[in-house]
Amino acid sequence: MKRIGVLTSGGDAPGMNAAVRAVVRASINNGMSVVGFRRGYNGILMRSAQQDDDFAMMTSHSVSDKIQRGGTFLMTARCLEFKELEYQKRAVDNLRLLGVEGLVCIGGDGTFRGANALKELGYPVIGIPGTIDNDLSYTDSTIGFDTALNTACECVNRIRETSDSHERASMVTVMGRNCGDIAVHTALACGAELVMIPERPWTVEEVADRVRWGVLKGKRSLIMIFAEGAVNSLTSDLGAICAKYESLNEISLHHITSSQVAMMIEALSGHETRATVLGYTQRGGSPTAADRILASRLGAFAVHLLKEDRAGLAVGVRGGQLVAGPIEQAMQGRTEPNEDLLSLITELS
Ligand code: ADP
Ligand code: F6P
Repeated sequence: MKRIGVLTSGGDAPGMNAAVRAVVRASINNGMSVVGFRRGYNGILMRSAQQDDDFAMMTSHSVSDKIQRGGTFLMTARCLEFKELEYQKRAVDNLRLLGVEGLVCIGGDGTFRGANALKELGYPVIGIPGTIDNDLSYTDSTIGFDTALNTACECVNRIRETSDSHERASMVTVMGRNCGDIAVHTALACGAELVMIPERPWTVEEVADRVRWGVLKGKRSLIMIFAEGAVNSLTSDLGAICAKYESLNEISLHHITSSQVAMMIEALSGHETRATVLGYTQRGGSPTAADRILASRLGAFAVHLLKEDRAGLAVGVRGGQLVAGPIEQAMQGRTEPNEDLLSLITELS
């Protein structure tokens, strides 16, 4: 291959810039030119008012001073039309028109679905896992997960201090979409008392019981880590709970939030419970050293594979070793929680 393309897509993740830097520098050092597409698949579809805003030739200098920066300088987007065959075919035509012979797609499972669609049209692609969610089972870690985890831990430490002073319980909501990995790892790293994740059914009643027990055992603060997707695995009869307590009468059951769940836990346990949603703080910030190293290794690996005309793959890391497998297998999400870590959280709380 003489020319390849690179894009970042889906939710941004710290370390995406380091991955783009690695793709660009490794390509140039292996005799290939690189086109950087902006705003995910939108860039290939050339959807901006000005075409030079959709893509740019990358030089070694384009990626200077980027390895330590959060976000993605290529920008990212959710391009929903890309799910349609008509747009996927247009993308392949545009790539060929630009002389781009292979494409590196950095993102999560949705981005991999887009890349796989191009693969099915006979176009060479490589997927690099870039998402804070760590929801791809073929790789031990995705780029951005370690940074998001460390940010969440830093925030929980602060919340623990104020909760301890006030002798309150605190429910901290972390991101992760349908995956509980950020929650489980944050809970273990912060010594949280409880964790609620989408992969495991749970009830408000059992959580409230655990809070009550914690208070009886003399705990001054209780930290509960709530994965944003955990509302979907909540099996309590919320209507019955809300009808029983006056403080919960106003809650609308159409869209349950973690803050409302915290109110229910307070009502059932009789212990003051506050809620904090960490939100986008977890997506921003300078990537950790671990994420920069992972991104650099995966970015260069992707280029080496394309240079050898090996494509249709997603790259990752398992047991410290770089791995590459069919992208259609890699885009399957992680459905099983890490039972060992979950047991450890309970044993150590
Ligand atoms: P992530 O890559 O972080 O999982 P999304 O699920 O939002 O994020 O997906 C990112 C983008 O990937 C989407 O906006 C769309 O452009 C593309 N994409 C997602 N699903 C598909 C699909 N089934 N077919 C083609 N492209 C898809
Ligand atoms: O996939 C990354 C992620 O941050 C998820 O954890 C979260 O559910 C989602 O993206 C939020 O998406 P948006 O950027 O559209 O708010």
